[in-house]
Amino acid sequence: MGSSVVAMHALSGAVPAHFSPSLFANAPHVAIHYKTRGKYRRKSRALAASCSTSRMRNGCLRDYGFRNINNRLLSLKCKCQRAESTSGDANKTWFTEPTSKADQILGELNGQKVVDFENGSVIMPNDVSVNQSSDKTRGNSVEDVAWRLLQESVVYYCGTPVGTIAAKDPSDSGSSVLNYDQVFIRDFIPSGMAFLLMGEYEIVRNFILHTLQLQSWEKTMDCHSPGQGLMPASFKIRTVPLDGDDSATEEVLDPDFGEAAIGRVAPVDSGLWWIILLRAYGKCSGDLSVQERIDVQTGIKMILKLCLADGFDMFPTLLVTDGSCMIDRRMGIHGHPLEIQALFYSALVCAREMLAPEDGSADLIRALNNRLIALSFHIREYYWVDKRKLNEIYRYKTEEYSYDAVNKFNIYPDQISPWLVEWMPEKGGYFIGNLQPAHMDFRFFSLGNLWSIVSSLATTHQSLAILDLIEAKWSDLVADMPFKICYPALEGQEWQIITGSDPKNTPWSYHNGGSWPTLLWQLTVACIKMNRPEIAARAIEVAEKRIAADRWPEYYDTKRARFIGKQARLYQTWSIAGFLVVKLLLKNPDAARNIWNDEDAEIVNALNIIVDSNPRKRGRKVLKKTYII
Ligand code: GLC
Repeated sequence: MGSSVVAMHALSGAVPAHFSPSLFANAPHVAIHYKTRGKYRRKSRALAASCSTSRMRNGCLRDYGFRNINNRLLSLKCKCQRAESTSGDANKTWFTEPTSKADQILGELNGQKVVDFENGSVIMPNDVSVNQSSDKTRGNSVEDVAWRLLQESVVYYCGTPVGTIAAKDPSDSGSSVLNYDQVFIRDFIPSGMAFLLMGEYEIVRNFILHTLQLQSWEKTMDCHSPGQGLMPASFKIRTVPLDGDDSATEEVLDPDFGEAAIGRVAPVDSGLWWIILLRAYGKCSGDLSVQERIDVQTGIKMILKLCLADGFDMFPTLLVTDGSCMIDRRMGIHGHPLEIQALFYSALVCAREMLAPEDGSADLIRALNNRLIALSFHIREYYWVDKRKLNEIYRYKTEEYSYDAVNKFNIYPDQISPWLVEWMPEKGGYFIGNLQPAHMDFRFFSLGNLWSIVSSLATTHQSLAILDLIEAKWSDLVADMPFKICYPALEGQEWQIITGSDPKNTPWSYHNGGSWPTLLWQLTVACIKMNRPEIAARAIEVAEKRIAADRWPEYYDTKRARFIGKQARLYQTWSIAGFLVVKLLLKNPDAARNIWNDEDAEIVNALNIIVDSNPRKRGRKVLKKTYII
């Protein structure tokens, strides 16, 4: 078969006939006239692989036969084919039906069956018609606009939808785009959740399988390369000339593991989010065949091995560098930041649910279980602050050398920041941002706290207390646009020293106390889980007043989030997708079950045993446990 015929074949097969044309309106399947192939590319690696002798993994060819030392380009070639076509299950029902399910769901949303907040009480779906303006007819409501924008952000690889671009601001051009034209793993999560809730499963499935192909896989050689199992921060689809054929091009999936990212930050959160999305995909679509695939199981295990590997650390929390998560710039969150711990816990719980029991994984599962218990004990016990605990820290003795030390991390009470003494409400509490020897980072980090509720890393009592705090501190955390990424901002000398005088992270901007609408979706899942959806409904009401008119900014600035962020992108996809997820979940709160993790009885039992033992010694039992891999 000539390559043009192959290309046509691949392209025509790339978009299923039953795929809703309204959903992925921008599919490039008609526009491509050139010969095209798909391939995965890795940069800055010492090894190169081509397709000669190959090993099948998701139908893509991974080759170990040809190794070309010092070739900076490592490519993993994949014939341009739909990811699912290789698994022999292309006829499964998770594809979109001819009349898009999304249209139906959107219709219901516009039919005003949403939870709304009015006069301080919640109106649940079907109870009362919600007070929405009458001009929100089908087709131009904020939800419709958001859905259309989300579709327009979809990125295609060989004709199949594989992700969403970080931002699609028409006013951005040239170098000002930076890497916002890439598909970020973490940014795709709310997009993926929105698609799942809309019954559009294929794009999520493709995303999962294609990013799996990008996972760092080969063993590290002389030159430095990402740890085996690392997922990239982002990827981009490039159309490049086909080797040795000037008239042809091929599409390349080009990942960035942080080696091109500003500050060269490590995307520790990517693999954790990938596992979380994989589980949500199975729960929402009912299609467990993806998580059961051998290559997917291997992918999960590789992420776990990377996270559970022994290091020098004394704590069960993951030790990471600064900027290794949503806050991907220097912000003083190196060490054991809460966000990573919450995602780590969540990924462990989700992985345990999905891992197929087999002899070969017994050690890994044992290590995972040990870690889950140790991690939840550590965070619940040592990261938690409320008024009572703060008073305890205020009276801490220091320099205790013994197993029974009360002040285990030798925290000097003077570290309690003056703002916190005033800020801590009578009712409520939260997990601090980071804990290290002689250091507690008392800043409130939203994502870590919200995801601790969602994943059940927090106890029920703690989860409710976090929501109490959010209500008590509404004017600081929500104000004119939800949701503040962290509170308070670093200012003055602290800002200079901790951020390196970062002009993008000036006080109350961007990561340094800026407000990020995307965080609304995590807030909503947490609120629904704790049976307090009215909090999320109130927050979305605030956002809805201006988010569309402001053109879906990435973030807002100032203490009360009054301004669109100084350097914020407009039409930021995760702001759009986050908004949609909130709307969809408030309309159908039951669907949030597919995203959260219920508290695990085994972990609760194990923790009770620890707590019931001598309080002076509590913690020793679990901390003495080894983490066997
Ligand atoms: C910024 C954010 C990061 C996000 C990326 C793409 O770098 O800090 O969390 O993934 O933009 O939107």
